[in-house]
Order: sequence, then structure tokens, then C-alpha cells
Amino acid sequence: MDRRFFLKASATGAAGLAVSSLVSGCGMGGGMNSSSGVFLNTGVFTRPFFTPPELLGTVNGVGRKVFDLTMQTGTEKFTGQGITNTMGINGNFLAPTLRMVDGDNVDLNVTNQIGQTTTLHWHGMRVPSNMDGSPHQEILNGTTWNAAYSVNQKASTNWYHPHAHGTTAPQVYAGLAGMLIVDDVETLALDLPKTYGTDDFPVIVQDRDMTTDGTFAYSTTHMEIMQGKKGNTILVNGVIDPVLDVPAKEVRFRLLNGSNSRIYTFKLDGGRVFKQIATEQGLLASPVNLTSITMSPGERAEIVVDFSALQGQAVLFQDASSGISLFKANVVASTIAATTTPAILTTLAPLQRNQAVRSRPFVLSMGQGNVYINNKQMDLNRIDESYALNDIEILDIQNTSNMDHNFHIHGAFFQLLTRNGAAPSVFETGLKDTVYLPANSRVEAIIQFTNHTANAAAPFMYHCHILEHEDAGMMGQVIVV
Ligand code: C2O
Ligand code: CU
Ligand code: CU
Repeated sequence: MDRRFFLKASATGAAGLAVSSLVSGCGMGGGMNSSSGVFLNTGVFTRPFFTPPELLGTVNGVGRKVFDLTMQTGTEKFTGQGITNTMGINGNFLAPTLRMVDGDNVDLNVTNQIGQTTTLHWHGMRVPSNMDGSPHQEILNGTTWNAAYSVNQKASTNWYHPHAHGTTAPQVYAGLAGMLIVDDVETLALDLPKTYGTDDFPVIVQDRDMTTDGTFAYSTTHMEIMQGKKGNTILVNGVIDPVLDVPAKEVRFRLLNGSNSRIYTFKLDGGRVFKQIATEQGLLASPVNLTSITMSPGERAEIVVDFSALQGQAVLFQDASSGISLFKANVVASTIAATTTPAILTTLAPLQRNQAVRSRPFVLSMGQGNVYINNKQMDLNRIDESYALNDIEILDIQNTSNMDHNFHIHGAFFQLLTRNGAAPSVFETGLKDTVYLPANSRVEAIIQFTNHTANAAAPFMYHCHILEHEDAGMMGQVIVV
């Protein structure tokens, strides 16, 4: 192990937890990213980067795209040593990248072979609420659920994962998560990197609490439920310390924080500049130059890194919060045509505050060893909020606790109006479905449910996407009438 790396990690990692939890009892004042377990990232990149296979669907006789997905158990050797029991979709760990095009009519046949009840949620997809894969659309072990919907949204990087009541965290941790990319005509016509696995890569970042032989098993103490389950070892697309050959041209990376609770601040070594081109639900109006990007669980961002002048060099992708280098990109000669990311990507017509008919409070809080939204815990039989279809409203989301949370809502996108009373960063005004709320912070966002109504038999969910909090009841239900 590289001693400098270890020291850097422990400053914010294991040692940080030990100290803060002793001092403050349950570590409530401690950093969000404290964790236990061993640290297997070495700063030496030897394993090949894994790009999950694409699943394009098979067009059937009536023009619908059919996707067959089997949720299954398996095993994996993450370090080549110990054997971990895992779960995956059409494989042992993680899942294929689903590709859909705006306007597609899709059928997803989801077979549950994991030995326990689950659901499969299309995070970021604006689908009918009874096709959403929420806790109300249970898939019993040994059965198949058919999700059928029309894709009706902009090109975007979404993902899919279980959402079973009270067991989402362990199921995602075991490996049930994959990317779901929507394409549209407008975006396909842009001169952006778009050759999957060549200049367009999924980057699913997840941490695991591993033992020295590279095995893990989900377990939580009450403190880990309150702080969120963290691990000291960070994987990219299920691999520790991967190395990727990238062409000496612009390359697009679709970043997904697929972790249960860890928050990352992604950067390139040397403070290299990259362009953010998209938030969760689609392209930004124009690319934004950044040197780092902070992402809470469930958030996505598409970035473009220009390697044109770097052939023969290596670039590290790092998490500034933990000090861990996630993967290495070796720049090699390009065999495909150069691209030039356009200065204008799309037209966004942000909803305006004066269009809103009301502002609705969502207060994220903790107390007595529990987590709450608006002082309530999730009840599958209670509807918490009712929206009118097409009404424009403000989400007034306030984190009154000393710990980080975030907020995700199903069935619609939102755009930030303010963060802590000030104008948000320009990239937060893009189309989002998940937003980070650091301790004691507040955001206002504007939202409109347009596509679908939702009744009490199949409401939409809103929740903290720290999965331990979600499972502990930090969730509520919305109908749209
Ligand atoms: Cu990614 Cu309600 O979830
Ligand atoms: Cu979701
Ligand atoms: Cu939370």
C-alpha cells in the first residue's frame, strides 16, 4: 500500500470516523464521508476498465423494443482473491447499459431470481407511475414483471436499480444497478463524442466496505444507518483501480454516483479543466468549464475531456473528497473522427418563479436516531402530497440537520432557482431529478408534473437518495391529479 495515499485517506476516512464518533456519540457532527473497512485502492492501475455491455432491445412484430432483464445472484472476485456473493442483472454484478430513443415504445420483462422480493426503478425516466418500479410494483421471487412505456424525454443519462420497501440499500450494494441512456434526434445530430466504449464511457462510481481479500457483505450498525453506509474502497464499473485507453480526442464520460451514501468531488489530476455538458435529465444549454464536480448519490453528469494534445500521457480521475484516484486514462492514438463539442447544445426554457402557483416545503431532518421528511417517516399507505397536473410549483427543500442529505423526486424534472438564498451555479439550472443538500442548507427548485397523473395505488416517491436513509423511512409519496 502506498503510505502517502493511506494517510491521506485516513485523514478523512476511518480515523476521522473513530475520532468524531467518540467525541460526538453518533458522529452527528462528523463528516459525511467517514467509513470503516480496509482501503484497497492503491494508486496503481492494473485492472482493465470494464464498460458494461449495451442492451439495445429487440424490436418485436408491433414495433416495440423488448428488453429481457434477469435479476440474479452470483459471485465475483474483486481482487482476484476472496469470493463475494453478489447480485447483478443479466450477469454477476451491475447490469447492461440500456439504450432507448425518445419516442420508443419499450417492454421491459424483469425476472426476479434473487431469492427475495424486489422492484426495478427507472431513475430519471418520466414514465407512468404504475411502470415506475417503485415500492408499489413488487416483483416476487420467481416471477416476471412487465414494464411497458413510451419514452418521452430528452437525451439523458439515467439509471436503474431496485426500490423495494426497506431493502433498497442492501440490494443496490450487492450489485443491482445499471445505466439507462436515452438518445434523441437533436442530440445525435450534435458533434459530441458518442461512440459507446470508444469515446463515450459510462462511469459508475461506488464504494464498498471491503475486507483485505476484497470481499464484502452488507451490514450496518445504527450509526452507519444514520451516517450512511460507507466503504473505503472505491470501484468504477465494478472494478478497483482500472486503467482505460482513451483516444487522443474529445471523450465523453457519463458520471453516475451509484453509491449508497458517499459524496464525491470528481476532478482530474493537475486541476485539468473539463466541460460539463449535461445534468441528470439532459444537456445544458452550453458546456460549462469546470475543474471539479460534486455529486451526491443518484446524481449524474456528462462531461467531455479533451485528450487531443495528450497522446502518450496519462490522466487520473480522482475524488478530491477522499483523496482516492479512481481510474487512469492512458491517451493513445485515435482511430475515429475528431469531434468539436458545440458551444450551443440545446435550448432550455427554464420555468420562472412568477409562473409558480405555490411553494411547497420539504424539510429534511434527523432526531431521536431517526430520519424524517416533514417530520414524517415513510408509510406506504399514506399519501403525503398532491400535485395538480401541469401546475408549476416551487420545491422549497431545507436540510435542518447537521448531516448531509439529498432529495430525489420521481416523475418530473426540476431546475434550481436558489441555493442558500443565492443564485445557483449555472450547471444546477439544468434539468435535474436529484439535488445535494449539505448539512444546514436550502435549495429552491421549480417543478412541473406534465407527463402522467399518479393515483394512490401507484404514487410517485420523493426521498433522500442516501439509501440507508431511504430504507429508514426518509421518503414520502406524491399523487398527481
Ligand atoms: Cu434512484 Cu427513488 O430512486
Ligand atoms: Cu428515481
Ligand atoms: Cu438523508
